[in-house]
Amino acid sequence: MTDTWIILGATSAIARAFARTQAQSGCGLILCGRDFTDMEATAADARARGAAFVEVAAFDARQPETFAPILALTPGLSGMVNCAVFVGSMPEQGEMDADPALIEGCVTDSYTGPARFLTMLAPLMEQRGGGAIVGVGSVAGDRGRLGNYVYGSAKAGFATYLSGLRNRLARSGVHVMTVKPGPVDTAMTWGLPSMPFMTSPAGVVADILKGLKKQRNVIYTSGIWRIIMTVIRLVPEPIFKKMKI
Ligand SMILES: NC(=O)c1ccc[n+]([C@@H]2O[C@H](COP(=O)([O-])OP(=O)(O)OC[C@H]3O[C@@H](n4cnc5c(N)ncnc54)[C@H](OP(=O)(O)O)[C@@H]3O)[C@@H](O)[C@H]2O)c1
Repeated sequence: MTDTWIILGATSAIARAFARTQAQSGCGLILCGRDFTDMEATAADARARGAAFVEVAAFDARQPETFAPILALTPGLSGMVNCAVFVGSMPEQGEMDADPALIEGCVTDSYTGPARFLTMLAPLMEQRGGGAIVGVGSVAGDRGRLGNYVYGSAKAGFATYLSGLRNRLARSGVHVMTVKPGPVDTAMTWGLPSMPFMTSPAGVVADILKGLKKQRNVIYTSGIWRIIMTVIRLVPEPIFKKMKI
């Protein structure tokens, strides 16, 4: 029996690092995204590392018609079907302030698109009676702040969605883990001013694997962000609204 990971947002550096580890464990991979050249390179690497099989599939969070063909790949699979969501986009807050039409895309990429896909996947996982979902949120979702409150609100929505999905799927033996990274050195943060406690894609994946092993519900990566965000959430609103963080 071979377990399979459906990886949404397979072109993310964190997703690529995750795919490598699952390929080495002999899992099957369904790499889903928009950039086939990038995904074919990851697929070739995964096959070389020992993946049981690798499929590459179109996934666009803004085009829900791309979702069903991915699910159509699952009925013939023998083991557990798992899903890891790395999809998200973080347009500059200033650009969205100037052009509110951009908000919808950010929210679709970071919340509603993945949530709609997972809602379609959930009954299939319930039927199989197991498997795991890894949903990547962000510390930005823990409190709205000046620099990225639209992206943060989308990630907050996704985290709340995952919490409810966890509640639902736990009854069927499916584990849902929410991952809240602080800054990670990837394309998303490239060119932005330097950020504290930045971690690497490999560091995030190491924390994800540890979390899955321990069946954690919500993890922060790196772990220090749990403490930082606890403090940030405790700052009283009259003070917080004057802060620039
Ligand atoms: N980097 C950080 O500091 C940080 C911190 C906290 C959370 N995160 C989260 O970590 C996850 C991975 O991000 P990353 O840092 O690796 O940055 P990234 O390289 O920008 O990854 C984002 C991924 O989302 C995909 N995506 C965006 N819009 C999409 C759409 N409409 N349809 C399908 N795929 C779409 C991108 O695909 P394309 O290659 O096709 O654009 C890419 O695979 C994201 O959910 C992000 O929000 C990142």
